[in-house]
Amino acid sequence: MSTATPRRDAPPDAAHRSLRRRLLAWYTRTRRDLPWRRTRDPYAIWISEAMLQQTRVETVIPYYERFLQTFPDVDGLASADLDEVLGLWAGLGYYSRARNLKRAAEQVRDRFDGALPDDVESLQSLPGIGRYTAGAIASIAFDRPAPVVDGNVARVLCRVHAIEGAPQERAVQNRLWEEAARLARGPRPGDLNQALMELGARVCTPRSARCGTCPIRRSCRALATGRVDELPHAPPGKRPKREHWVTALLVRRGRALAVRRPEAGPLGGLWELPGGALPGTGGALAGARALLEERVGLRCEALRRAGRFDYAFTHRQLEVEVLVGTAAAGRTRLSGYTAHRWVAPGRLGELASATLTRRALELALATALPPREG
Ligand code: ADE
Repeated sequence: MSTATPRRDAPPDAAHRSLRRRLLAWYTRTRRDLPWRRTRDPYAIWISEAMLQQTRVETVIPYYERFLQTFPDVDGLASADLDEVLGLWAGLGYYSRARNLKRAAEQVRDRFDGALPDDVESLQSLPGIGRYTAGAIASIAFDRPAPVVDGNVARVLCRVHAIEGAPQERAVQNRLWEEAARLARGPRPGDLNQALMELGARVCTPRSARCGTCPIRRSCRALATGRVDELPHAPPGKRPKREHWVTALLVRRGRALAVRRPEAGPLGGLWELPGGALPGTGGALAGARALLEERVGLRCEALRRAGRFDYAFTHRQLEVEVLVGTAAAGRTRLSGYTAHRWVAPGRLGELASATLTRRALELALATALPPREG
């Protein structure tokens, strides 16, 4: 039997138990105090999930509070004037969500005696409630072991399991729902689902994931293989933008220059060799020299090519040219970096750096420090 695609009724294995335990402990410790987390009222949770579908948490809060004050229950919403519902929604966008809420409330009143059903199938029979919202309501309001997969959850799962392919592809979607279902099949499924959403929103973010503070970093296959920046893959048909980058090992008196990236932004706080994106498709050493001088404030001499490689990075395809050279005497003046160090070249690998930097270093060191003969 393949272990990659367990049967849906397979018993929870130790790895999933441990993932679940870590996620729940982290969520209990760090969860944000949000108005819809102070209630178990299925109606209120439904409204929150409808609002949160395309809209950020901070934007939703005042809308959620006003909506519940005006329409505190299913009957109130079912008998409301549609214009009043739309008026309360004004500014949130995607108004079909408000129209569907009103129609669904009428159906809950007429078909389910005014009580929101507690199973995924019945919930999905209501206007505007898809697989995600049904899973969220069933798990959060009714403690049902129902999975949810939204953009945030998809990113977390793609990275944890190093899932290849874009989350929009059918096969990847199937795998994601399967993985989410395995996780939801345990204690506190509503909290578990919200932990995954929260992790994707606050830690495992599209750019500069904060892996250092991630509660499940030890189980993350993308992190273990240095592919956090590559996963999840871009949607098919959306061709990644090609960029030409240069990065250089600059040596002075036997030491090489390492620079640190700003905390905010891609690869935040990591060390790298100085460099960046070059306008045009490059190969031009003069352009590279100008860029390096601008970024570190030092004149670069004897620049030469050490090699090149392609690197996929957050929906961009980088063509990275690696150079080696000498840094002239003078004071370092950094632009776009927060710190620098002169390091023995053999020790550069000890600095916290991204895969891209490690690949560049290998090439640069092979050129700058040829293996000793004999
Ligand atoms: N996004 C979607 N559902 C959410 C929830 N219950 N809490 C926070 N963010 C969410």
